[in-house]
Amino acid sequence: MWEYTDKVQEHFLRPHNVGEIENPSGLGDVGSLACGDALKLTLKIEDDVIVDAKFKTFGCASAIASSSALTIMVTGMTVDEAEKLTNDDIADYLGGLPKEKMHCSVMGREALEAAIADYRGVILPMAEGEVVCECFGVTDLDVIRAIKESDLRSVEEITNFTKAGGGCGKCEDKLRDLLQATISETPVVPVTADGPKRLTTLQKIKKIEEVLEREIKPALKKDGGDIELVDVDGDFVMVSLRGACTSCAKSQTTLKEYVEKKLRELVLDTLIVEEVK
Ligand code: FES
Repeated sequence: MWEYTDKVQEHFLRPHNVGEIENPSGLGDVGSLACGDALKLTLKIEDDVIVDAKFKTFGCASAIASSSALTIMVTGMTVDEAEKLTNDDIADYLGGLPKEKMHCSVMGREALEAAIADYRGVILPMAEGEVVCECFGVTDLDVIRAIKESDLRSVEEITNFTKAGGGCGKCEDKLRDLLQATISETPVVPVTADGPKRLTTLQKIKKIEEVLEREIKPALKKDGGDIELVDVDGDFVMVSLRGACTSCAKSQTTLKEYVEKKLRELVLDTLIVEEVK
């Protein structure tokens, strides 16, 4: 069950600006009914100022609330101001969205970009990307952008923000490759009390092993679980997990999330834990 803020509920139950502007200055039509979410945004623009915005959407409560919020946010903005809006701005306006529903705010941002591009008569570069997720028609450029903009660190997070990987799952390997390639483009230079410090692979493995032995294994063993380090490749930490963790279950955190959180806290905040069998 998702937890929605009061503002999300308010915009879902009484959405603003539902409908379609006739002869709009800009039209953004994104998503598809086949993929489960679609949004049509129409803008009326006068002297480069958005004077009216309307939407029609097919989607969940978060999609309706995000679209409604978006129309309110952009009305009165210049086109230049509106194009700087991010999906995080939409989510923040609503007081937050469940992490699994962040793709609804992304869809709002995409519709806005498409409507502005239509107004300006330009073609968005995203249209040139290669589709990596057939189920949801998500391109490699969509995924790379989401990883960079929202600092995504796992395939699960990519699914939350783009929906890619949320269907048959066949694209998961491609998503993992894109994640690894995108993250490794940016050299990791963690900042410590003594200033920036780069960890060598050997140092990283040693620190991970120390934290596993000192912090993580004892906690898991209390619940009859255990963990083995299998490999480290860049920021990816491959582990084999056993058993359950009562404290994790209580907080609805998965075992993998618990291990990742600890390693990020105590070793490097860019580490990504992958479970291998
Ligand atoms: S191809 Fe990506 S979920 Fe099916």
